[in-house]
Amino acid sequence: MTKPAGPAVSPPDLAGRMREQAAACEVMGSPLYARLLEATAADLEAEGPSWAVLRGKVVDTPLRFMAAMHRLVLTGLAPDLAAHYPSAGGQAAGDAWPAFRRALVARRDEIRALLDLACQTNEVGRSAALLGGFLVVVAETGLPLALAEIGASAGLNLRWDRYRYETVGSAWGDPESPVRFADTFLDGHPQFDVRTKVRERRGCDLAPLDPASPEDRLTLRSSVWADQVERLRRLEAALEVAARVLAVVERTEATEWLSRRLADTRPGNATVVFHSIVEVYLSPEQRARIRELLEDAGSRATRTSPLAWLRFEHAWDSELGLECEVTLTTWPGGERRVLATALPHGPPVHWLGPM
Ligand SMILES: C[S@@+](CC[C@H](N)C(=O)[O-])C[C@H]1O[C@@H](n2cnc3c(N)ncnc32)[C@H](O)[C@@H]1O
Repeated sequence: MTKPAGPAVSPPDLAGRMREQAAACEVMGSPLYARLLEATAADLEAEGPSWAVLRGKVVDTPLRFMAAMHRLVLTGLAPDLAAHYPSAGGQAAGDAWPAFRRALVARRDEIRALLDLACQTNEVGRSAALLGGFLVVVAETGLPLALAEIGASAGLNLRWDRYRYETVGSAWGDPESPVRFADTFLDGHPQFDVRTKVRERRGCDLAPLDPASPEDRLTLRSSVWADQVERLRRLEAALEVAARVLAVVERTEATEWLSRRLADTRPGNATVVFHSIVEVYLSPEQRARIRELLEDAGSRATRTSPLAWLRFEHAWDSELGLECEVTLTTWPGGERRVLATALPHGPPVHWLGPM
């Protein structure tokens, strides 16, 4: 998913955005994208082939551009560049820019068409960040969970309890799961002696992706950074789980969906409304409305029909703009706690909650 479209921008403005994203990719472990975005920035300043591709296009984030290039590679249209993309069996060694530049020249029209597609992620790593919050709710309520996710994308994080989370000397989750997180936590971890039962998996998204659709799978793959093979492996494994574990994601705006969902109660279950990296796409009015809906439903919550609001979102005071926090608010009572911090893609998670 990309931010709402704004006006088309000039080469120096676009170059600035490419450099900001290059710095984020460096910190988040993608040297390939950091290099390519830096080189694209310099090429834009010289009004080279990247400007011929991007001119007049509304490229709200450099990741839409990188997803378009990745899609080109994954569909076999840029074999030279594929040789540098580990996601396509290539080696991350050597400088990928000359092949990237050649692809910009040779495939300009195809790339321009691909730029009209959204960059839509569903990052399974965020399940590792959210895990501790779900476990705290179960430990405190002793009830089965009714999950309600807003901005759910393909709904892969609605299956968080079907994944395996390992950390030094300890683990939680299905040992047979194809989705495995090694070294999930940096230091301490949540209490793992918790058995969960998920009774309901529902969510909404403005543009949901269907994990069974080949086209939507390609969108998900293209949106992962091409040298982050572990993320890609987890995505493939989560798609496999999604084929077995049902979750329903409706094409509905979050405030509308939540207002409908919270009008219904689920006695005997703890309702957990959750979201990850969605707030940045919401207007202040939408964010306020979501809080109002939750506080209103929270005021009606009881011990046998409790409500929790779990979110993994950017910390607004984050220095780099990258740190994210896992926050949990529970009703009855309305207690709010910051449980963990992590970078936007999830592990390793710095756990701050009860151990
Ligand atoms: C960065 S993606 C995160 C997806 C998923 N939560 C994850 O962590 O992988 C943001 C998602 O929010 C959805 N979204 C943005 N604004 C929305 C809204 N007002 N209502 C519902 N979904 C929304 C987008 O379509 C996109 O799937």
